[in-house]
Amino acid sequence: MPRKIIIDTDPGQDDAVAILLALASPELEVLALTAVAGNVPLALTQRNACQIVELAGKHIPVHAGCDAPLARKLVTAEHVHGKTGLDGIPLPDPAHPLHGQHAVDFIIQALREHPTGSITLCPLGPLTNIATAFQRAPDIIPKVAEIVLMGGAYFEVGNITPAAEFNIYVDPEAAEIVFRSGVPLVVMPLDVTHKALTSREWVEEMRSLGTPVGQAVASWTDFFERFDTAKYGSAGAPLHDPCVIAYLIEPALFTGRHINVEIETGSELTLGMTVADWWRVTKREPNAMFMGGVDRDGFYRLLTERLGRL
Ligand code: RIB
Ligand code: CA
Repeated sequence: MPRKIIIDTDPGQDDAVAILLALASPELEVLALTAVAGNVPLALTQRNACQIVELAGKHIPVHAGCDAPLARKLVTAEHVHGKTGLDGIPLPDPAHPLHGQHAVDFIIQALREHPTGSITLCPLGPLTNIATAFQRAPDIIPKVAEIVLMGGAYFEVGNITPAAEFNIYVDPEAAEIVFRSGVPLVVMPLDVTHKALTSREWVEEMRSLGTPVGQAVASWTDFFERFDTAKYGSAGAPLHDPCVIAYLIEPALFTGRHINVEIETGSELTLGMTVADWWRVTKREPNAMFMGGVDRDGFYRLLTERLGRL
């Protein structure tokens, strides 16, 4: 029985690879994509999500969600992802329209209509849609099977500020709601995604698939890795969001600890920091499986095999 998931996303080239991995994997049933403002404004993330689904040749509903964080101005990341958010290769305009239902209403309805524990939420961007759904309909919180998200950082420190990772920094109030919700959490922080670096060899493997998907993934990677390789001086760039989907397919690729993770929402200096009690020095209740290690070669082997199916 495939695992039912909802992917909440702010595409983003790495979101796109995560979505393609999910759509290529029979272990997963993607009920819908829900778009959120993040890497680029909502008008673009919703459009990008539609383009990615159509690139995969699938018919999955895309719901547009929140266009701004709960309590702050939107911060975007065009400097990483380009002005469209999917720079690297031009894609045809979406042929299918967005679903008419707002993403938050869809998330609430889906969780109310499906049996408890049958839906996993997979946020790949700021947590605004998820937090808004939890605030508007607290009855759905115990119905969520698990949240597997990309966000946060501890040993790797921040990527948008010295203290914070982008997804959490954009909407720290939303992150606090999710991390305190009591829903079982699996967190893929920069600590693990920065070990899942692309390589020239893998990019060429993608190009040599000779498919529109392979060409797109290679071109997206060529584009977005230039920022990280220049910043970190590494040979490749972290492929953040696909770690979430790879975990659902092959959890043994990852290692981590079940610990307490709290979100900084008060200090301007460290706003959005995920304060991870990795050494268990506090008495705070563990609330998250916080990942720290990944079998990098196994991760890319899975990606190549699955993306080759599209
Ligand atoms: O910090 C990395 C995260 O921010 C990724 O999800 C990337 O897509 C951006 O949303
Ligand atoms: Ca993302």
